[in-house]
Amino acid sequence: MPYRMNVLLCGGTGCVSSGSFNLKLDMEREIERKGLKEEVQVIATGCQGFCAEGPIVIVQPDGVLYCKVTPKDVPILVEEHFLKGRPLQKLLYTPPDETAPVPTLNTIPFFAKQKIVVLRNRGLIDPERIEDYIAADGYMALAKALTEMTPEDVISEIKASALRGRGGGGFPAGIKWETCRHAAKKQNAERMEQLTKEAGGDRFTKPLTQRPIEPVVICNADEGDPGAFMDRSIIECDPHAVIEGMTIAAYAVGARRGFVYVRQEYPLARKRLEKALEQARALGLLGENILGTKVEFDIKIVQGAGAFVCGESTALMASLEGKVGEPRAKYIHTVEYGYKDGPSLLNNVETLANIPLIILRGASWFTSMGTGDVSENPWGGSTGTKVFSLSGTVNNTGLIEVPMGITLREIIYDIGGGIPRGRDFKAVQTGGPSGGFLPAQFLDRSVDFDSLNDAGTMMGSGGMVILDEGTCLVDSARFFVKFLADESCGKCVPCREGLRRSTEILDRIVEGKGRDGDVEILEEMGEVMQDCCLCALGTSAPNPVLTTIRYFRDEYECHIQDHKCPGGVCKDLISYYINPDRCDGCHACVRACPTNGILGEVKQAHSIIESKCIKCGACVEVCKRDAVMHA
Ligand code: SF4
Ligand code: SF4
Ligand code: SF4
Ligand code: FES
Repeated sequence: MPYRMNVLLCGGTGCVSSGSFNLKLDMEREIERKGLKEEVQVIATGCQGFCAEGPIVIVQPDGVLYCKVTPKDVPILVEEHFLKGRPLQKLLYTPPDETAPVPTLNTIPFFAKQKIVVLRNRGLIDPERIEDYIAADGYMALAKALTEMTPEDVISEIKASALRGRGGGGFPAGIKWETCRHAAKKQNAERMEQLTKEAGGDRFTKPLTQRPIEPVVICNADEGDPGAFMDRSIIECDPHAVIEGMTIAAYAVGARRGFVYVRQEYPLARKRLEKALEQARALGLLGENILGTKVEFDIKIVQGAGAFVCGESTALMASLEGKVGEPRAKYIHTVEYGYKDGPSLLNNVETLANIPLIILRGASWFTSMGTGDVSENPWGGSTGTKVFSLSGTVNNTGLIEVPMGITLREIIYDIGGGIPRGRDFKAVQTGGPSGGFLPAQFLDRSVDFDSLNDAGTMMGSGGMVILDEGTCLVDSARFFVKFLADESCGKCVPCREGLRRSTEILDRIVEGKGRDGDVEILEEMGEVMQDCCLCALGTSAPNPVLTTIRYFRDEYECHIQDHKCPGGVCKDLISYYINPDRCDGCHACVRACPTNGILGEVKQAHSIIESKCIKCGACVEVCKRDAVMHA
């Protein structure tokens, strides 16, 4: 019998770390105690996207969303809502700067402007139950591909969809698939030709001792960008979508083996993927004779080697082979000669999760979302949607999915709820650590591959960091350059030395020791790295520096010439004071200060003892009246 109420409790990593698994047990116990076991079921779902407000609970069919639910709330929640049908006001979401809570999921601005395609099953199914995925049309696309389409038809459909790789490069997936299929055919033909030649020119008829060359399908789940969690969340909320996408890809290119190269730091994603693989095998959706056809394919999970550079295609394949994860020159493409020198189709998690819906609903449905004209050329625009992890100084941080072509302003202000505490927006960084920073003049820029590239940044895999007025762009660029310097494999000189020297220069600028000409050296080094580095890590690494110089050059000059940090971040260049006109003597800063460096009576203006201040910024963070200023 169907349940009267489904309680969807977020079981994504963010909410799990806030205690959602224990919450589930508490809820189930309380539901049983109230005699509701036959009427109310609790389902642990994947990430619902609203991670900063977790643990998240959604009650269906009412569509009511609860935030920050704790074990203490369970008895009253069960009593009031599950039993008496009265939503519990105190746990509803209240948007920033508003007083009235918003009761339902669909009316919360964070969700209302999103376009959900890849995350279609987020929060709706139990990711650990294949039955739930199948009930949501799961594996229908695979059945359609295997029984109604030839591999060439599948490739044509993906080409027509103009789906571009979501891992960063934006290369059209259909073209990659086609190249991979042709590469295997070509290499087998070449081998036969060679054998024929060795047999003295007669047609080679003896049985082959070697197996024919077969491509492999590899899913890149080595999401290394700091703060990014798109791929982890997709796997956690819908692992079968990735498996189905990989299996369709395998059929299209003629592969029988696949790998998911997944980060070591993603234990929950790995566990769900392992369980999903077992379930798919048990139902004949993986292995030999998939769905009763002659198609054979299986997937192995491989744990990543823990290096950022292993997300790069050639390094990833070296690591898969058990070698050191170092990139190699890509004049030979991995799609032709990749894993163990065979044709290798590498797509990331989000790209593959798009595949089942494209096959099921058709390429024209997919191209109805997005920008540009892709009717003749897949590079002509950006189709479909993009998943981003929204973080930084924005009210609603979390995981979002938006149509290509949405503006940055819509993402930051409508979905993200704007900048906390009424502060001003300063910059947005897209594209992960080697992405660029864009100032307010780009807020109305369309979010798509080409528009972001034109502005000097990139789509990347989907990290989006919002920075407010209290940010120093020189320091932010330094942070990412330092990260990349640590992660550079060191194989080629421009990257290894360019990143080290850039870090040294940025270090001295933020310490107030910058010299005339430093900015020009940074620019010159950046250009050399873009031209000469061996892999994409190096060629894109100067982006943080080059975009901050391009759009925030005055900040560099202020540090070097005036020895001041306009963002009030660089410790050597600032001192704090309390504005007596704003201070109401709430004493919060006194409690937060680790050095007892603030004096003042309650309800009277406070002051900072400069000799005791270590410039930790704790008082700035806690002051609700923005009374702590920097000079
Ligand atoms: S560009 Fe950097 S990460 Fe890439 S191969 Fe060269 S040193 Fe290694
Ligand atoms: S937290 Fe702000 S308002 Fe409160 S005492 Fe300190 S400076 Fe004054
Ligand atoms: S910056 Fe840190 S050390 Fe200085 S006054 Fe504020 S809380 Fe105290
Ligand atoms: S982990 Fe729960 S909402 Fe993201």
